[in-house]
Amino acid sequence: MLRDLIVRTRSIRRFHEEAPVDRETLRELVDLARHSASGANIQPLRYILICDPERNARIFPLLSWAGYLKEWPGPVEGERPSAYIVILGDKRLRQSFDVDHGIASQSILLGATERGLGGCIIATIQRREMRAMLGLEEHYEILLVLAIGKPKEQVVLEPVGPDGDIKYWRDAEQVHHVPKRSLDDLIIG
Ligand SMILES: Cc1cc2nc3c(=O)[nH]c(=O)nc-3n(C[C@H](O)[C@H](O)[C@H](O)COP(=O)(O)O)c2cc1C
Repeated sequence: MLRDLIVRTRSIRRFHEEAPVDRETLRELVDLARHSASGANIQPLRYILICDPERNARIFPLLSWAGYLKEWPGPVEGERPSAYIVILGDKRLRQSFDVDHGIASQSILLGATERGLGGCIIATIQRREMRAMLGLEEHYEILLVLAIGKPKEQVVLEPVGPDGDIKYWRDAEQVHHVPKRSLDDLIIG
């Protein structure tokens, strides 16, 4: 079951924008992150929950989508995320946040999948503009944004081919294909 949940937890970038994701759902997802591992148990991550159309519209242009899909500028209106979780690090507690935000992100996205939602980790962020938009105090560092919503795209995993290309692609039906390396390629000893 866990394997199935992990395999189904793909990066989703097109959504049924009309399907709302409420703040309580986002709180439940962050509660999964709260129970996850943290280096030295410092727990320096902080979260901002966004699920209203006005702030959704302001945060969307500050994010970069699917860098390998050069022709695709990101989801069109109507297919954009219904919610976002901004993951911050509190620099008063730590200067570097190690892998805490990666672990937190995966916990949140697994929980999203379990609820019939989907999402995408976004690290390519216009941080200066987002800091201003959120009115963040100096001691918060913007680490990641998680886009969340009801999935509107199909994602298929593929083996990496002999050319070794790991770039994802979309086919004529707009199905998103993601190459994954084989287990034997990963385990080297
Ligand atoms: C640290 C990290 C940063 C990422 N940043 C972005 C991003 O800025 N924009 C984006 O569209 N996807 C981003 N992704 C999603 C990856 O592109 C995605 O994980 C990869 O294509 C594999 O697809 P999968 O998640 O379905 O396995 C990021 C993923 C990770 C782990």
